[in-house]
Order: sequence, then C-alpha cells, then structure tokens
Amino acid sequence: MEKSIWRKKPMHAYEADMKKSELKRVLTKWGLTSLGIGAIIGGGIFTLTGIAAHNFAGPALAVSFVIAAIGCTFASLCYSEFASILPVEGSAYAYSYGTVGEFFAWIIGWNLILEYMMGATTVAVAWSGYLEKFLHLFGIELPAYLMNDPFTAGEKLGLDGPTPAFNIAAFFITWIVTSVLVRGIQESSKTNNIIVVVKLSVVIFVILVGAFYVKVENWTPFIPDTVTAADGTTTFGWDGVITAATIVFFAYIGFDAVSTQAGEAINPRKDVPFAIVASLIICTVLYILVSLVLTGMVRYDTLDLKAPVASAFADAGLPWAVFIITLAAVAGLTSVMLVMLLGQTRIFLGMAKDGLLPSFFKEIHPKFKTPWKSTLLVGLIVSIVAAVTPIDKVSEMCSAGTLLAFAMISGAVLLLRYQRPDLERPYKAPLIWFVAPMGVLFNLFLMSRLRIDTWYAFLIWSSLGIIVYFLYSRNKSNLNEMEKD
Ligand code: ALA
Repeated sequence: MEKSIWRKKPMHAYEADMKKSELKRVLTKWGLTSLGIGAIIGGGIFTLTGIAAHNFAGPALAVSFVIAAIGCTFASLCYSEFASILPVEGSAYAYSYGTVGEFFAWIIGWNLILEYMMGATTVAVAWSGYLEKFLHLFGIELPAYLMNDPFTAGEKLGLDGPTPAFNIAAFFITWIVTSVLVRGIQESSKTNNIIVVVKLSVVIFVILVGAFYVKVENWTPFIPDTVTAADGTTTFGWDGVITAATIVFFAYIGFDAVSTQAGEAINPRKDVPFAIVASLIICTVLYILVSLVLTGMVRYDTLDLKAPVASAFADAGLPWAVFIITLAAVAGLTSVMLVMLLGQTRIFLGMAKDGLLPSFFKEIHPKFKTPWKSTLLVGLIVSIVAAVTPIDKVSEMCSAGTLLAFAMISGAVLLLRYQRPDLERPYKAPLIWFVAPMGVLFNLFLMSRLRIDTWYAFLIWSSLGIIVYFLYSRNKSNLNEMEKD
C-alpha cells in the first residue's frame, strides 16, 4: 500500500466524526468569545510587557503590539474560514488534514503541542511569580527553591549555576486546573466566564485609572535610539521594536484556541469565526491602551520586569491598586491555563480519532464526557516542566510553534480556495489573495527573529515529530483502512 504523505482525510469522515462526537454541545457565541479572551489576556500583558519595553522597544511598545497584531489578524481570518468549513475539534490540525494532507497536518499538530503545552507551562510559571508578589503584600515570603526552577533559583541565590529547586506553585496550579478540566466543559466554561469578567474589569481599570497618572514626557523619545552591544547585538530603534513584537506576540496567542472548541459549540460554523475575530479585536485594543498607559506612567528604563503593571501603580502611590491587579492577574492567568490545557487535550483527541496517536488520547470519561486520561497526562507533563524550566525558554518555544502553525494555516486556506472552490464557506476571509500570503510571510518573518537557541530546540522538536510520524502515525492512520475499502 502506498501511504502517501499527501493523502487527505475525506470530508465524509469529518461528518461522521461530528455525528459520533460524545462531547456536549453547550457553548454559545459569547461563551466562545469569552473562552478566546480567557486564553488571550494573560502572561503576555501582565508580565512580558516589562521586558519588551524596558529592554527593546521603550514607549514604542504599543507599536510592537500593533505589529504582532497584524500577523495574528491575517492568521485569525484564515483560521476563521477553516473553522467555518470544518467545525470539528482539532483546530488547524484537523483543517489541514482534510485539505493539504496527512504529513502537513501532523507537523501542524506537532507544533500545536508546543503552542498549547508550552503556553500553559509559561503561564503556570508566570502565575507562580504573581502569587509570590501577592503573598509579599502580606509579608509572606517563600524560599527561592520552592518558587523557582533550578536555573532561576541559582541566579536569585547568586550562584554560578543551577541549584536543587522545584517551582511548587507552578506545579500546584497546573493540577488545580487539570482537575477542573477532568470534571467537564460546562463547569470549566462557567469558571472561565467569571474569571474573564474579573480580568477584563482589571485591564479596563488599569487603563482608566492609569490614564490620570500618565506623564506625557515619559513618551519621549517614543522610539529610543538604537544601542549596539559589544557582541554586535542591537536593542531599541526599529530593530528593537520588532524584537519586542516577537516577545509580545505571546500575548495574542490563544485566539485560535476557540477553534479547538468547535466540537462543543452549539452553532460552530457561524459562532467560531465570530468568536475568533471578536476576541482578537477586543484584546488588541486593550493591549495598545495598556501599553500606552504603562509607558506613560513609568519611564521605560525604570519599568519592573516581573510585574510591570502592578509596579507602575505602586510607583504612583496606589498600593490598593497593586492588591487588585495582583489578585486579578492570579485569577486571569488561571483562565489562560484552563483554555490552553483544554485546547491541547482536544487536539490530541482529534489526532487519536484519526489513528495518528494511540487510543489512550481519545478515551472519554463515561460520566464527565471529557478525555480524562489525556487531560491527566497533559497535566502531569506541564506541571513537571513548569516546575523545573525557566520562563523565557518555554515562552519562546511556544511562540516558535505557534508562528509556524499560523504561517502554515494561512497557506493552507489559500490552497483550499484553489483546490476546492465548491466547498460551502459560511465565513470567507476577505481579500484572500492578500491576506493569506501576508499571513505566511509575516509570521515566518517574526519567526526568523527568534533567538538562535530557540531555533536549535525547535529543530530538535520538529525532527522528533518527523520520526514519530514515520515510525508510528503513518502506519496506524485510519486512512490505511479507508484506502483498502
Ligand atoms: N496570550 C496568553 C498570555 O498572554 C498566552 O498569557
């Protein structure tokens, strides 16, 4: 038998999957949008803004947010079109399996593991940082070896290398979220809605209250002059603005998580595209305003690196605001983890249903109707990696996988327009001949700006994916049986 890497999952197989789905259809249009916002607003705006403005962009942080949003907008329009054609769980992976081919889909699925698992891991570590800040308000200090990974703990203790340490807070929050997810989507969705309201209120609070403390002179120079280090690396200037865009790109990751919930949406064909675009627009506007307020309140070179938003209010002499912001960040980061971990298990579910992963990943709990075994496994991996790895390493791996997936999906949607013009498209991306190529180029461009170490790690991960595909998935694919019939 041939087992071509270009073989596609037939459309009738998707329809059969949708009929067989054991997941409960409970999510509405605004429920999905809330999931999107829950996934988007998190560690990016609460933590990475400090590093991006302080080290690379200065007050032009807002421009970096605009640049990152452009790439995401192209990708989101393409995602939306795909989601409207194939409303199944599995996200970009599922869409490309039916259009471009099995191997391409596998590579996307493999990269989505980086996006969701490393995203959840990053946020777990950020959560631990905010918890530390929150406890600090009450004079409670936990030892460095219990709140950091071995490398960061070593740095904090002034050692030359790593020291025995385990980030117990990151480990703990991962298990809390995992147990909510095992119990089921309805409960998870309700929990998420409450947290999203808290998070949005605090972001709007930051913008409205912070605006009164903006000093216009802090915005000058808007783009600080380029600084060249001894080793030739540059910061600030336009180069710095673009580097900052690759950092704050993380803040947008998550809008595509909506598409992984299609199997649980009441009216997926219309509501998933709506929720993707709506959540991205809402967050983009909020991010630009927060970054202007933040760099207006505090001079960029004195911004705090760990909790910049809370610290800006501390500097303004508003300690009560620090309490509110820190508390909301702890809740807000939890909701990001919720959607990330949920998305990961649904992608595994899609891949296992197609035979590309073992059936372990598709076992649904008889009472809770959730893929509980896979949820527990994902929780285990994320909790351990989060406890022992520095945040910058995991966040960059997350961005690498996501950028490639965005570029691939933008290319695939265009291909599908050409190959299958007949398909019903309840949502059509506008100006596809412009939007799709720009989605590919823009996201690859941002990817090219990642650090070289991240590239090495990414290439190792990709090679592993290719090996697993050729040794396991290709031989176990359901398409082998279908091709026999
Ligand atoms: N966008 C998400 C965050 O910023 C991943 O935490």
